[in-house]
Amino acid sequence: MKVLIVFDHPRRDGFCGAVLDSFVAGLHAAGHQSEIADLRSEGFDPRLDPADEPDWDNPRKAYSPAVLAEQARIARHEALAFVFPVWWWSVPAATKGWIDRVWNNGWAYGDRKLAQRKALFLGVAASDAGQYAKRGYDSAMRTQLVTGIARYCGIDDAALELLHGALGAEGDRLAALERAKDLGRSF
Ligand SMILES: Cc1cc2nc3c(=O)[nH]c(=O)nc-3n(C[C@H](O)[C@H](O)[C@H](O)COP(=O)(O)O)c2cc1C
Repeated sequence: MKVLIVFDHPRRDGFCGAVLDSFVAGLHAAGHQSEIADLRSEGFDPRLDPADEPDWDNPRKAYSPAVLAEQARIARHEALAFVFPVWWWSVPAATKGWIDRVWNNGWAYGDRKLAQRKALFLGVAASDAGQYAKRGYDSAMRTQLVTGIARYCGIDDAALELLHGALGAEGDRLAALERAKDLGRSF
């Protein structure tokens, strides 16, 4: 499959970037092709301005050139993946704004839905699985991202995977990188 990977971190060379590299290595080992949409280095503006506000009476509204370019990039791919650090139990602002603007009315929801077959949200987290489970942060994120966004927009085969221990011991970080590679291989 052709997989578009949306990456959102202020630095490409940090641990999240290493997770991205491992995931890509796994994808390629399984014969998939990939393109990286590095939202921060590309300078994607996450703010939804009037040009990209949905017109509820016109699902064929012509959105801004920046949004049309992102929609064309998505259309060249059969699947989507998101690699991001968990910030406040959610995706960072650039990813949120990319979805706000690009997955727009009449294209991703409404009378038309996304045509992609699969979506994976791959979140890099400092807190461990027990801390997530204790407060239900993992299920809250799953409801929001998988059900509320991906499936709402027509991608039924969607999942959230959390890689824990990003700021922890070396062994935890190496295990997270292996897991990212496995997720690429089994994508
Ligand atoms: C603004 C901010 C909010 C964060 N919120 C969370 C959080 O809600 N849950 C969590 O497990 N880690 C949280 N973290 C830790 C990040 O997930 C962690 O720093 C990142 O995954 C590790 O990569 P990095 O150090 O290269 O950024 C937060 C970090 C920042 C900077």
